[in-house]
Amino acid sequence: MKWTAKKIEALKGKQKIAMLTAYDALTASWVDEADIPVVLVGDSLGMTVLGYDTTLPVSMDEMLHHTAAVARGVQKALVVADMPFMSFQPSIEMGLENAGRFLKEAQADAVKIEGGAIRVELIEALVENGIPVLGHIGLTPQSVKAMGGYRVQGKTSEQARQLMDDAMAVEQAGAFALVLECVPAELGERISSALTIPTIGIGAGAGCDGQVLVISDLLGLSDKPVPKFVKKYATLSPIIKEALAEYKNEVESGAFPNKEQTY
Ligand code: KIV
Repeated sequence: MKWTAKKIEALKGKQKIAMLTAYDALTASWVDEADIPVVLVGDSLGMTVLGYDTTLPVSMDEMLHHTAAVARGVQKALVVADMPFMSFQPSIEMGLENAGRFLKEAQADAVKIEGGAIRVELIEALVENGIPVLGHIGLTPQSVKAMGGYRVQGKTSEQARQLMDDAMAVEQAGAFALVLECVPAELGERISSALTIPTIGIGAGAGCDGQVLVISDLLGLSDKPVPKFVKKYATLSPIIKEALAEYKNEVESGAFPNKEQTY
């Protein structure tokens, strides 16, 4: 069965939703084989794969290239493409055109848009034109310069009220689900109870309707420190480094290839 945005939306209250990022066909196929229903081609691509310091430099071309690879790797999971910085902020027309490219050229099933009430008009236009939208509020990394760093959002009652209003606005505009990033667990739970669409938390507590993580954090692919909300389900970096060192040693010593690897 192929997951659709409608089917994901209908999971609210029935089943918690697991979502994971992927950036290429191979890792996307692992996510799909694990029966994880949503794969997000996040613009975290910039840091996890492309070597940028933030998500800001990530381009439409880079996102299209990786989204197409992910879509080729999955059979069942819903493929959500992250709209990169400045691919939708300048105008509704630009956002509509670029979102359409993800569905037409990269076989994405939906797009993710950062921002709350300010994105209502765009979300409405996308949904009216047949493009399912995953909202994203709280810590929105494309606004890192304005936020002054990667910080927990919604800590004051005024900020919490603003985030609740943003969540309601995104739901009303027609999003099928909403990512809540880095907000206090109590607020994550309150927003989740107030909405009829599922919330997908990342650093937003167990009260959300689902959870999302960046695959390289979950697998421990890097030695860099990870945020507090990450759980490493594996620590693959030392295993990979050991394998590469062994390969180098065996090539240099002549132990590889041996008879078994030789025609
Ligand atoms: O870019 C990304 O991977 C994301 C998720 C962490 C929500 O936006």
